[in-house]
Amino acid sequence: MSVNYEAARAAVDARLGAKAAAHCHRVGDTASGLAILYDVDPETARIAGILHDWDRERTPEQLLGEAQDAGLTLSDAESARPHLLHARTGAAALREEFPGIDDAVAHAVARHTVGAFDMTPLDMVVYLADMIEPAREYAGVQELRDAVGAVSLGELFALGYQQSLAHIVTARKRIHPDTVAVWNRYVAGGPR
Ligand SMILES: [Fe+2]
Ligand SMILES: [Fe+2]
Repeated sequence: MSVNYEAARAAVDARLGAKAAAHCHRVGDTASGLAILYDVDPETARIAGILHDWDRERTPEQLLGEAQDAGLTLSDAESARPHLLHARTGAAALREEFPGIDDAVAHAVARHTVGAFDMTPLDMVVYLADMIEPAREYAGVQELRDAVGAVSLGELFALGYQQSLAHIVTARKRIHPDTVAVWNRYVAGGPR
């Protein structure tokens, strides 16, 4: 059985601390709004949004252990920054928690940090909802919010991704190799 929103919300509230859970609620609601604008199923987006940070509060050790158990191959960037793994391990953990979970939902959860070369519209909606949910405050967030509905979903994702990468570079953090592929495809003029 696929997970419905109420079950997803109850599970998130039981698993995460109040602050992280509230962020997840906002991401679910924001994802639903983006989905309506960009012709994605809003209920699926809301469910993927509320579940996206399922593994957000796992320790680096737990994330590395979960990744090993799930047979995930780690990049150097993930070994150095295990926090990056919470998206992929979260998707694997959700498949265990909710065996009937919609593939598209698990997919979007897995891709909400680094993104991927072949982002689906749902993947983009969840990625962006995480960036612009109402409590987010950073230079550039207003530019993204203003672009919602004014540009295509692909262009909105490109704008968001550009900001994420700029942040990683400014903070002198390691760049996940997939990030380069995503950059070249969606931001630096590849096919949309
Ligand atoms: Fe996250
Ligand atoms: Fe998040």
